[in-house]
Amino acid sequence: MANISKPDLRPANPRFSSGPCAKRPGWSLEALNDAALGRSHRAKVGKSKLAQAIDDTREILGVPADYRIGIVPASDTGAVEMAMWSLLGARGTDVLAWESFGAGWVTDAVKQLQLKDVRTFDAPYGEIVDLAQVDFDRDVVFTWNGTTSGVKMPDGDAIPANRQGLTICDATSAAFAQDLPFDKLDVVTFSWQKVMGGEAAHGMLILSPRAVERLESYKPSWPLPKIFRMTKGGKLIEGIFKGETINTPSMLCVEDYLDALSWGKEIGGLEALKARANANLKVVEDFVSANDWIGFLARRPEIRSNTSVCLTFTDPDLAAAGEDAQAAFAKGVASLLEKEGVALDIGAYRDAPAGLRIWCGATVEASDLEALMPWLAWAYDQQKAELAKAA
Ligand SMILES: Cc1ncc(COP(=O)(O)O)c(C=O)c1O
Repeated sequence: MANISKPDLRPANPRFSSGPCAKRPGWSLEALNDAALGRSHRAKVGKSKLAQAIDDTREILGVPADYRIGIVPASDTGAVEMAMWSLLGARGTDVLAWESFGAGWVTDAVKQLQLKDVRTFDAPYGEIVDLAQVDFDRDVVFTWNGTTSGVKMPDGDAIPANRQGLTICDATSAAFAQDLPFDKLDVVTFSWQKVMGGEAAHGMLILSPRAVERLESYKPSWPLPKIFRMTKGGKLIEGIFKGETINTPSMLCVEDYLDALSWGKEIGGLEALKARANANLKVVEDFVSANDWIGFLARRPEIRSNTSVCLTFTDPDLAAAGEDAQAAFAKGVASLLEKEGVALDIGAYRDAPAGLRIWCGATVEASDLEALMPWLAWAYDQQKAELAKAA
């Protein structure tokens, strides 16, 4: 028998997906009225919107003036692979992974690029690699916030300021929610659909002066498709970093990103965006500490994400029931909540341990998470009753 009755309150917005993420509070299609539709992205209006997107990104994220920021094809994946294909191979490479997306970059380095001198480091879901083992005089590829495990870098302290290698950092689910120490990062990538709730389309590629130096002094032995090419005649194509995109961008997506950035500035910039994600995580943390049947995949708070928050059911009956039963239980909880219309897309990622993943980035309202928490308890109770019936 289930014991908990359905909560009265429902989240006003049930969208807790980890990408595309919820639009900013108050968003509607009207925000896109000013889009330069049907116009060339090379016309004055298009170019100035693309340049604005770059300038606002720099302002909010605090990107140093001597770092380049480019809008590139194929979302975050495009930006990461463009960097890997263009920069790696000049020296040894360490690739770090503690969840599925990091593991994807390992595959790129080892199986696709087939780098000659590559070391890989991995950690199980919920943990992070031992950063003291990493050699930052080699190039290092890693994901700042592992979206599928909810484990983030604690900070940039393990990365020496005077490193010889380049650090290539996939920061797609960290940017705008966590501090990114740009002095420790040579390549930073992200896409618009995460913390800012923009549209998935284009990638952002941020390059340090040392990354640019590598681009201009090193030519990989493999061919580079046109959408990866950032240099011409051994010189950086500066236009890419002023809004002259390599190929045609969606001006509708650009408008939407500009809207998201303008909201970010209006509420107080990076500090306010981070504070919103932190407050959201706190709602889940309070719930987890009050309930012994649920826990974080990332047990250690210093590596726990404030965006992609991953939860597992710690109920001992379930732990004893085995992996398949746990997965079925977690799916049952997520689908009950979806059916009730109180939480959409909160099942754990397909490669991750069974559980739930609740996006806590800046566009999510803490009040919606507060309304959701009693529903978690309700759905858990419903599923437990089902299990008891089946036994
Ligand atoms: C850490 C990380 N890297 C890469 C990606 C792929 O991003 P995109 O689909 O924007 O290329 C994601 C998407 O969720 C991600 O979370």
